[in-house]
Amino acid sequence: MATVLVTGGAGYIGSHTCVALLEAGYQVAVLDSLANSSAAAIEAVGEIAGRRPRLDVADCRDETALDKAMAEVRPDAVLHFAGLKSVPESVADPIRYYRHNLESTAVLMEAMERAGVRRIVFSSSATVYGEPDELPVSETAPTRPANPYGSTKLMIEQMVADVIRADSRWSAALLRYFNPVGAHPSGLIGEDPEGVPGNLMPYLLQVAVGRRPMLPLYGTDYPTPDGTALRDYIHVMDLAEGHLAALESLESSAGQVHTYNLGTGRAASVREVIAAMQEATSHPLPYEEFERRAGDVSELWADPSKARSELGWSATRTLAEMCRDGWIWQSAHPQGYRSRSVP
Ligand code: NAD
Ligand code: UD1
Repeated sequence: MATVLVTGGAGYIGSHTCVALLEAGYQVAVLDSLANSSAAAIEAVGEIAGRRPRLDVADCRDETALDKAMAEVRPDAVLHFAGLKSVPESVADPIRYYRHNLESTAVLMEAMERAGVRRIVFSSSATVYGEPDELPVSETAPTRPANPYGSTKLMIEQMVADVIRADSRWSAALLRYFNPVGAHPSGLIGEDPEGVPGNLMPYLLQVAVGRRPMLPLYGTDYPTPDGTALRDYIHVMDLAEGHLAALESLESSAGQVHTYNLGTGRAASVREVIAAMQEATSHPLPYEEFERRAGDVSELWADPSKARSELGWSATRTLAEMCRDGWIWQSAHPQGYRSRSVP
């Protein structure tokens, strides 16, 4: 039975991936600073899977904490989710983003090297593509991130690839996520953003639960069938399962780095998402139309065929399931993980 260290495992995608890993029989240890998450997520992961992962509350930039975790956990591989992920924050404070995301990955990989752990799965993003020339977007499409957050992802991809070029004992999977949404169907874990949600789905869920009066709908004049932007929304459990497939592929890929789009290959407009969420929640979801949001692309969806042919993975869950599962989580936890401590 293999052992994995999951950085950022208390966060949204990391916690769902921990469930999938535990259910597949892995030993799972999480290292998370809890800067953008709660230890309650790890408790909930344990409730779902019947086994609670070990949790080290530590920063990936802390060499001592990493060396200790590597020595005690002795992982076979690392899944690296930890990082800062807000596009507008990265635009306002780029140095913080470059420093945090690049340094945490470099310090982590040095600790892995010291411990002889040379398999890594990295959370990249479809944001590395920027405005695409062609749709759907394949992994060979040009990369031109439109914000510092996206640039940090691309730089980390390059850093990982350079490490593998220098030492063929390393192997890596760079996973470019499209738009992860939804929650584990138990409703015990889900997305719990701090403050005003920056993304569509969590915003809509907060409208549905009564935390916000209406959705601001950004952009109704895109050159799309209904005038709103098109995205590739992917159920977070499909994404979690994609990590398992990528992890397994590392066993036979020493000296290689592979990049995979993790998306469904299907596009949904903002209006379609509002309608699907209205159906799932049986709540009216008022919205107000605004100008386009700066930096948004018109259309972005994946060609996920490489992951299907090389990893044997494809997303299976529908938009209706994404909305249903998101709503199970949000309605059971109107205030996110804070709701768990309320009697
Ligand atoms: P999240 O903020 O919920 O999870 C990240 C976790 O990492 C949090 O628990 C946070 O406390 C922790 N963390 C941050 N910096 C750390 C550090 N230096 N050391 C230790 N822990 C640290 O975010 P998420 O949505 O689960 O995203 C996970 C990863 O996937 C991120 O790297 C993100 O950039 C990437 N990603 C996310 C999306 C998305 O839509 N959510 C899309 C593409 C890529
Ligand atoms: C955003 C990030 C991207 C990240 C992705 C993953 C930006 C510019 N990009 O992408 O880096 O990888 O999330 O989750 O932030 N919308 C509204 N009202 C809202 C929120 C969003 O109308 O309150 C619209 C947006 O204008 C967009 C669509 O909904 O057209 C999807 O937005 P969002 O969920 O933020 O995802 P992305 O913009 O694709």
